[in-house]
Amino acid sequence: MKRILLAGATGYLGSYIAKELQKRDYHVRVIVRSKKKLNEKNIEVNEILESEITQAESIKGCCDTVDVVISTIGITKQKDGLTYMDVDFRANMNLLQQAKQSGVKKFIYVSVLNGEILKHLKICEAKEMFVEQLKKSGLDYCIIRPNGFFSDMSDFYNMAQKGRIYLFGNGELKGNPIHGEDLAVVCADSVEKSYEEIEVGGPETLTQNEIAMTAFKVAGKKPKITHLPDWIRISILKIVKIFTVSKVYGPIEFFLTVMATDMLAPEYGKHTLDEYFTKLRGMDE
Ligand SMILES: NC(=O)c1ccc[n+]([C@@H]2O[C@H](COP(=O)([O-])OP(=O)(O)OC[C@H]3O[C@@H](n4cnc5c(N)ncnc54)[C@H](OP(=O)(O)O)[C@@H]3O)[C@@H](O)[C@H]2O)c1
Repeated sequence: MKRILLAGATGYLGSYIAKELQKRDYHVRVIVRSKKKLNEKNIEVNEILESEITQAESIKGCCDTVDVVISTIGITKQKDGLTYMDVDFRANMNLLQQAKQSGVKKFIYVSVLNGEILKHLKICEAKEMFVEQLKKSGLDYCIIRPNGFFSDMSDFYNMAQKGRIYLFGNGELKGNPIHGEDLAVVCADSVEKSYEEIEVGGPETLTQNEIAMTAFKVAGKKPKITHLPDWIRISILKIVKIFTVSKVYGPIEFFLTVMATDMLAPEYGKHTLDEYFTKLRGMDE
């Protein structure tokens, strides 16, 4: 039985990966900074290590007896005062260092779709710096490049519920976001598969207008979409870059950039946005 160390199990994607790995009968060790958060998500694993992955000393030996490491560690909405370099790059480097020392065979890392061409963005710069180090590490590796997650599509539903969705441009840019449960299958498959890099998105490619209309339909609201001219997006980008620190503008910079790009990856999975928004509506009721 393969022994897997999963870092990121308390997060959106990581929690689905933990459940998928358990289904497949792997021996699963997780490294988390809060056991309480893990328990709240009803995740059952074989071993739990509670430590700070950003502090190299605290994770010494975490990879001992492990065959494969999977990391979804990265800043999304965390407000710990740390930068992408501290977490997406250095924390993952700490883990890679441990993996090498313990003779781990393979390291699976979740980056982002188009990360290589978006390296000028703070978040992608840190992730791709790690990718470069991972490729040079001598370990077998798999870099997973997913499209946007359903968790980020909640903003569409929340705006729809309030009665109006704001989009930049004409709303005809396309994307195929993916549900964490579908992506978790890809991540778990990569334990055995030999591909080194994989791009993946959800099963439906939709325009931003179509996503908005789905959100209105599920919310039961009359569709009202405001298409903001692109100069507003560009101005916001410039202003936040001048007046805020990287911790603040990083997520805004990423969001405003991908909203102005077709984000297309090979289609995979079964979960639809309609079904995801319906679940969100159920939680409100
Ligand atoms: N959201 C998207 O659309 C998208 C698309 C493509 C790729 N990605 C990438 O995929 C990865 C997983 O995303 P996700 O949505 O699952 O993110 P998430 O829910 O925020 O989970 C991120 C994980 O990283 C951990 N983490 C963050 N800061 C940390 C710190 N300072 N110290 C220790 N652990 C820390 C979190 O621990 P805690 O639970 O303790 O905070 C959590 O386990 C991220 O790297 C993200 O950038 C996301």
